[in-house]
Amino acid sequence: METVSLPTPEPQRPTAAPVPFALPHGLALEEEIHRLRKEMNAVILAHYYQDDEIQDIADFVGDSLDLARKAAATDADVIVFCGVKFMAEGAKILSPERQVLLPDLKAGCSLEDSCPPEQFKAFREAHPDHLALTYINCSAEVKALSDIIVTSTNAEAIIRQLPEDQKIIFAPDRHLGAYLSKKTGREMLLWNGACMVHERFSEEALVKLRERHPGAHIIAHPECPEALLSYAHHIGSTSSLIKFAEERPGEEFIVLTEPGIFHQMKQRSAGSLFHPVPGLGAGCANCNNCPYMKFNTLEKIYRCMATRSPEITLPADLITRARQPLERMLEMSRHIPSSGVGSLGPQSLHA
Ligand code: 13P
Ligand code: SF4
Repeated sequence: METVSLPTPEPQRPTAAPVPFALPHGLALEEEIHRLRKEMNAVILAHYYQDDEIQDIADFVGDSLDLARKAAATDADVIVFCGVKFMAEGAKILSPERQVLLPDLKAGCSLEDSCPPEQFKAFREAHPDHLALTYINCSAEVKALSDIIVTSTNAEAIIRQLPEDQKIIFAPDRHLGAYLSKKTGREMLLWNGACMVHERFSEEALVKLRERHPGAHIIAHPECPEALLSYAHHIGSTSSLIKFAEERPGEEFIVLTEPGIFHQMKQRSAGSLFHPVPGLGAGCANCNNCPYMKFNTLEKIYRCMATRSPEITLPADLITRARQPLERMLEMSRHIPSSGVGSLGPQSLHA
């Protein structure tokens, strides 16, 4: 399979931003967030990789697809997006009339970084007969250069709706692309990007865990390389992995994805045991944490609501161009049920 190579930059670790005013602590902080949420008519959306305490204060917790759907459908005035920047940009593109706040603008994504728009544009131009199917983990500019956006929940279903003879470019995740290619039997031209978290699980540690827990189900996100996926009993998006565990209460799982997911897994799969797989390298105990997702904290959520900043703003023409491929995605995955936690009606907002 043909690929294009680009280096994956390292993210900076979180640093404390200057605090413009005294921050409440503990319960008072959560109460203040709740008060601001009502006052601003805001909705708090959180991805499964966020810290437990963030998931607990969110109105809705879900995977990338469900978060995009909720952002598109909400009637709140403000969306506080507890995830990474490409997700918050997606919310702005689908709901341009709402104010979208991201607690920390440094919450990027190594997949997004691996696909600069100018290079993607040149790649597309070199393959004019190919349709660009692009993973949602990319910048707004790359979305605007794409034909259809996909997530790990709907990618397979969307590929199966395309004519058999349609040539496809898949960007930016080469591992997800290779997995989908194998699953659907479709040859695809892959961009050479990767998720720095899913690429760094230690195969050696996985094998040791499997020896120690022979009865455990090995479950993996398709952003993992093929060598790791070959051990998995179940491969799927975050919501699919949670559902798999939910259907098997009291069982044991070795999990190849970001450990933020354990919060919902533990709540929805009573009595089950979950084993995280460590990252590669000595002293790398936290390498399976996504440093970008972990930029968000309760304090920063409070601060961004109190100051209405940082706010996601995008040029109107970019919103218009990026919206169509995202709307195609929503349309082509209408039949896939929503599986997140929480509801966003006015009742939940003002309860
Ligand atoms: P999903 O929640 O859509 O499976 O995506 C995982 C991910 O990598 C988010 O960055
Ligand atoms: Fe990006 Fe990987 Fe973090 Fe998801 S887990 S936000 S793909 S770096």
